[in-house]
Amino acid sequence: MLITTDIAAIRGWRPNAGQPVGLVPTMGALHAGHLSLVEAARAACGSVVTSVFVNPLQFGPGEDLDSYPRDLPGDLERLRDTGVDAVFTPRVETFTAKLLTTVSVAGVTDGLEGAARPGHFAGVTTVVAKLLHVVGPDLAYFGEKDFQQLAAIRRMVRDLDIPVEIVGMPIVRDADGLALSSRNAYLSDAERLRALRLSHALRAAAGAWTGDADRARAEMRAVLRDGEGIVVDYADVVDEHTLAALSGDGHTRARAVVAARVGRTRLIDNCRLEVG
Ligand code: PAF
Repeated sequence: MLITTDIAAIRGWRPNAGQPVGLVPTMGALHAGHLSLVEAARAACGSVVTSVFVNPLQFGPGEDLDSYPRDLPGDLERLRDTGVDAVFTPRVETFTAKLLTTVSVAGVTDGLEGAARPGHFAGVTTVVAKLLHVVGPDLAYFGEKDFQQLAAIRRMVRDLDIPVEIVGMPIVRDADGLALSSRNAYLSDAERLRALRLSHALRAAAGAWTGDADRARAEMRAVLRDGEGIVVDYADVVDEHTLAALSGDGHTRARAVVAARVGRTRLIDNCRLEVG
């Protein structure tokens, strides 16, 4: 397994000429959700590159950049076990410090996380654009847990004609329904129990889904209202592509999205709403 911080070493790295390269961008602290992306990439690609980079550009002032979980030795072990071919771990000094260029996507990033975390998505899309340019993968894999991020990246790739296929992968959950996230490490046992309200609310929306966005939204909010120790940022039913809030009846598909603070930890989750 190649492990490098060097942009020149990873640029155009193709150990299996003629076979597709898959990229799995991560911020490390890898869990089964990340590994499901790696496994999907391994199944479809001749070689797989994973990047591990805690991207300072996507953290706002007062957010958890300094305390974000970091475990590079553990991550490398997990990646070796999963059969990754190369790990790119760029340095802040050479990758994101002193940039004068930003890649930002309008529209799909305006609401939800974009409204709650100003500048967050520009930080994500700037770094993902750089990773795509440096590694030059044929396919790049992202989890649906960060659903708005996935929509922004898809839009960026389309608008900038970046020659890569973006693959969105389903959310991986613990047995009790909690969506896996590196930030779950911050939760105490009591907070973890409270955090289950997010997935319960999504399940209520999915269970009530007949195409009526107002009804599904009300179901979600009813579950969250009961939640002790949770401060809800948003709980909404949105269009899967534009991320705009939906209202009224007659929708065949939509996405239920939720963000809440449990103690000091901000969690997000979502699920597809589909008739039939
Ligand atoms: O989803 C993440 O872990 C990050 O936002 C990403 C895509 C690796 C960009 O830093």
